[in-house]
Amino acid sequence: MINTGDKFIFGGDYNPEQWKAHPDILEEDIRLMKLAGCNAMSVGIFSWSELEPEEGNYNFKFLDSVINRLYSAGIKTILATPSGARPAWISQKYPEVLRTNEYFVKKHHGERHNHCFTSPKYRELTKKIDTELAMHYKTHPGILMWHISNEYNGACYCEHCRKAFIEYLQSKYNGDLDKLNYDWWNSFWSHTYTSWDQIEPPSPIGECSIHALNLEWKRFITHQTIDFYKAERDTLKKITPNIPTTTNWYWCQEELNYKTFSKEVDIVAWDEYPQWHSPKGDFNIANETAFIYNFNRCLKGGQPFLLMESTPSCVSYREANTLKRPAMTLTSGLQAIAHGADSVQYFQWRKSRGSFEKFHGAVVDHVGTEHTRTFREVSKLGELLDKISCIKGAETKAEAAIIYDRENLWALQNCLGFKTHNYGYEETCFEHHKRLYRAGVNVDVISPEDSFSRYKLVIIPMLYMMGGDTVEKIEKYVANGGNVVMTYISAYVNETDLCWLGGFPAGKLKQVFGIWNEEIDSMFDGVLKSVLNSDGKEYKAKDYCEIIHEQGAEVLCRYNEDFFNGKACVTVNRYKKGNAYYIAFRDTGEFLDDFYNSLLKELKIKRAYNGTLPENVAAASRIKDDVEYVFLQNFSASVKTVKIGSYIPVVETAAKIINDNAEIGPYETIILKRCLK
Ligand code: GAL
Repeated sequence: MINTGDKFIFGGDYNPEQWKAHPDILEEDIRLMKLAGCNAMSVGIFSWSELEPEEGNYNFKFLDSVINRLYSAGIKTILATPSGARPAWISQKYPEVLRTNEYFVKKHHGERHNHCFTSPKYRELTKKIDTELAMHYKTHPGILMWHISNEYNGACYCEHCRKAFIEYLQSKYNGDLDKLNYDWWNSFWSHTYTSWDQIEPPSPIGECSIHALNLEWKRFITHQTIDFYKAERDTLKKITPNIPTTTNWYWCQEELNYKTFSKEVDIVAWDEYPQWHSPKGDFNIANETAFIYNFNRCLKGGQPFLLMESTPSCVSYREANTLKRPAMTLTSGLQAIAHGADSVQYFQWRKSRGSFEKFHGAVVDHVGTEHTRTFREVSKLGELLDKISCIKGAETKAEAAIIYDRENLWALQNCLGFKTHNYGYEETCFEHHKRLYRAGVNVDVISPEDSFSRYKLVIIPMLYMMGGDTVEKIEKYVANGGNVVMTYISAYVNETDLCWLGGFPAGKLKQVFGIWNEEIDSMFDGVLKSVLNSDGKEYKAKDYCEIIHEQGAEVLCRYNEDFFNGKACVTVNRYKKGNAYYIAFRDTGEFLDDFYNSLLKELKIKRAYNGTLPENVAAASRIKDDVEYVFLQNFSASVKTVKIGSYIPVVETAAKIINDNAEIGPYETIILKRCLK
């Protein structure tokens, strides 16, 4: 466990170099930070041109003054390495650092995150500045942790990267090109390579039809990004072995497999910008956000993560940049805490005066004072987090897990067949998660490589790409008494994207689920098919209907029309000591509602809150020292009432308590606790 102090970390990205010409503002920042209850700031994220205005001329005077001022005010620094954006002099002097795009065109200098992770020169320059920073601050008591770079993302297609890709493949395949040709099915369209140097990164103007190549390229991007990160981390660790390291990630950076990456950080740090108050509906947004937080918590086996960035009000890059409704800043920060975060950090502290993000929400607005709605809400959260610091470090106990796999997403994005415009993998994961979230069940979002044994229920939505190890693991889990729910489009291809032979789902899973899946019918948008359960209740199938044959499984639902009328579409197989459920169609919603309602009851899955949850109110809990802290969050614009029962309110919250009832106002959160002993 990484020691980040006794209090929740609270603060944000502080970019004072923007305000160097305004010493009064820099002074005022400290007063306002104290007023808001901040205790940590991420500093130096994009400061390279300030720190090294010309090659080898390092100047940390300004940064010293910032860190010292923060420290004197009791505020720690999360010190960034500046490699997320480089000064123009680097691009001008060393054009090799510039990124080459997928059309093999070299980009010009500009924006950020626009450099080649393989470039020896970029690595050398990064290593030099990281070394200088670490040497300079190695004994500074104000440094809390390293924030390495910023949201690593993207890929480069230059010759350096192509060579590194080939080396990566040679090492993975132990130099066996025939094996690679087989795994990639290269005899198709005469794509067999006869020498390693024929391999190029996938490109719209070159090779993009070999699915396994596309998949390996994405794996390589993760590998190469991690390699770059490790070069930075190891430089710092050598000089400051006791300062924890992290780097911040975000969901839509799809090229990165964070499960693999998480092994290399001391603590997971996440940036989250939910699109509150959008037409999708707040509860749906809350569900997706909860899923993402649950995923973060599970990356390092349940260790609390950091919410490294979020907005206190709105963002600036969406179709409509909606303001958070009153109380939402608080509730949105507390949602991260409820699901296992030990911090709430904002991007950014003070709104920029100019350039790209001048209208992105910030704690301090252009008006420059504390007299704003946003500042007041942020301060309220700061005060509350201080009061509930006993919850910091608490763990989450979940009896149910959902498997989510980034590599599976890549394989599906790359797949041709079924319904090609959108397989809806993540949406399907969210849909299954929603049924548990709505019921107030704590859920772990795990990866196929995690252990399943601690769960009563493991849900496997659309795990199209499934390696032999996962097949074995599912078999063992069910054989030993586990309950598994698996859906359509699961276990079709192995980890090199070759279809499993002998019928889907792969290998032994046919015995485990007691079914064989022969065909899949894909339907145009708007087409629905009727499905009946054994009591005659009708549901509707959309998008996908697999045609399965029961081979020992009990049938729970059957198709009710078309040429597959009467065929099984939901089954359960009592396999050894466990139960294996298979859902062969995508439903319009009602089926999953009923299915999980009864399954959660049957399996007696524990809920975070024992009472009845009103619509659009979510519950999540964390446990520490035999006390369970329950967060009840109202993701709606109307007042909701919940029973207090044997719970005790943790702090006086916004809720009105009348007898045994607590009224939770629009977008408010209440925190209750109960003793488990
Ligand atoms: C993050 C990024 C920040 C800022 C923020 C705006 O992805 O790390 O630097 O741009 O988005 O939402």
